[in-house]
Amino acid sequence: MVHFIELSLGKGIMIPHNRTVKVLLQALTVIFLVVIPLYLVLNNSSTQLLSPKDNVMSIKLGKKCDIYRGKWVPYPNDLYYTNETCPEIFDQQNCMKFGRPDTEFLKWRWKPEECELPIFDAVRFLELLKGKSLAFVGDSLGRNHMQSLMCLLTRVGYPKDVYYPDPRFKRWFYEDYNFTLASFWSPHLVKAIDTDPNGPTYNRLMNLYLDEADPIWASQIETFDYVIFSAGRWFFGPQMFYKNGQIVGCHKCLKNNIKNVSTFYGYREAFRTSFRTLVGLKNFKGMVILRTLSPQHFENGEWNSGGKCVRTRPVSNLEMKLARDDLELYMTQVEELRAAEKHGRKRGLKFRMLDTTEAMIVRPDGHPNHYGHWPRENVTIADCVHWCLPGPVDTWNEFLLQMLKMEHEDSI
Ligand SMILES: *[C@@H]1O[C@H](CO)[C@@H](O)[C@H](O)[C@H]1NC(C)=O
Ligand SMILES: *[C@@H]1O[C@H](CO)[C@@H](O)[C@H](O)[C@H]1NC(C)=O
Ligand SMILES: *[C@@H]1O[C@H](CO)[C@@H](O)[C@H](O)[C@H]1NC(C)=O
Ligand SMILES: *[C@@H]1O[C@H](CO)[C@@H](O)[C@H](O)[C@H]1NC(C)=O
Repeated sequence: MVHFIELSLGKGIMIPHNRTVKVLLQALTVIFLVVIPLYLVLNNSSTQLLSPKDNVMSIKLGKKCDIYRGKWVPYPNDLYYTNETCPEIFDQQNCMKFGRPDTEFLKWRWKPEECELPIFDAVRFLELLKGKSLAFVGDSLGRNHMQSLMCLLTRVGYPKDVYYPDPRFKRWFYEDYNFTLASFWSPHLVKAIDTDPNGPTYNRLMNLYLDEADPIWASQIETFDYVIFSAGRWFFGPQMFYKNGQIVGCHKCLKNNIKNVSTFYGYREAFRTSFRTLVGLKNFKGMVILRTLSPQHFENGEWNSGGKCVRTRPVSNLEMKLARDDLELYMTQVEELRAAEKHGRKRGLKFRMLDTTEAMIVRPDGHPNHYGHWPRENVTIADCVHWCLPGPVDTWNEFLLQMLKMEHEDSI
């Protein structure tokens, strides 16, 4: 329950095509292309889907391509995995198991404008990460992402669950590849103290210490090779902001004597502090990856007023755009990433963007809606926040693998 409501606050993001937003997005796109270039170099002639073996050959001289700009195209081929072959799927995202009747949402692939996004090759992924470690830090969408990755990797093998007493922390080990995968539950990224742990999740006040990274992850992250951050809707709840141990403002705290600040203030500071913490950790040598905002798709109501996501296929990018709160969150996190990139470069650290947002905006069909369950839960609220597994969220890992391959090519 916690994990669902966490992400359901804040205003819906989808609005019909809006010029201002479009212009903003285009401006943003240009900036990213210049500042955070993430190009996929592919051979001009490789226009069909590549089989895993072809990947190496096709990444040779060729044109540059931004894999994050593109569209969904029909793709009727087999799935990477099903609810039968992947044991890792949380019931909350196990749409098939809970009777989702339509399957068209599984039959699309992301097609970048100027190249192909190679299919996910589990062996290649594990070979690239041999002897390495990867951590997901953030909210339940990070875990959704990680479960998709584990499902994609079931083609090669199942990891050992490394027991850890704190439930906010999970760790797995792929023995054959000496690869460690971990997740740290830290939805605010910074130190957060719940003022009323027994109150209703969506409106209880959190004290956020904006200049202190959450020790849950910060105390253990130093040895990781890759760290993927995600954060979003937890920032819409009532919050008291602290810096240097002093109150600096609050959001929805309903106290007259405290400065009212926007939720974006806390969001920006949380990313800034997290990125700076990593730059400041002496022994940290890893790559920091921002997985950009995951859009929610409640229609005909908000999450708590009957909103649902009943669509069964992608929409066009004229129909749905990033807007309002979500656009602001997106821009905020990306600005902080860019600032951190400059800062980290002096120390030889890489900050990269896994820019999944554009692809997901047009996938209102990819959420569980009512076909997902929390254990023993009576499902009345639709989940238009998380993503069905399997589903379009698997594309996040196709992006991730492509990004890692490109970094690898650059380093040899
Ligand atoms: C998988 O989903 C099907 C329905 O599509 C269901 O009948 C089956 O019990 C599910 N299996 C598991 C292991 O969840
Ligand atoms: C496994 O990887 C770790 C680094 O993550 C390394 O220290 C260790 O030596 C590796 N073990 C083997 C057997 O390769
Ligand atoms: C604080 O800001 C929120 C949103 O910006 C606004 O709705 C609210 O009325 C403000 N409260 C006070 C006390 O200024
Ligand atoms: C679930 O909720 C419905 C409607 O609120 C109710 O009729 C039903 O008895 C509930 N089922 C359980 C198992 O609590």
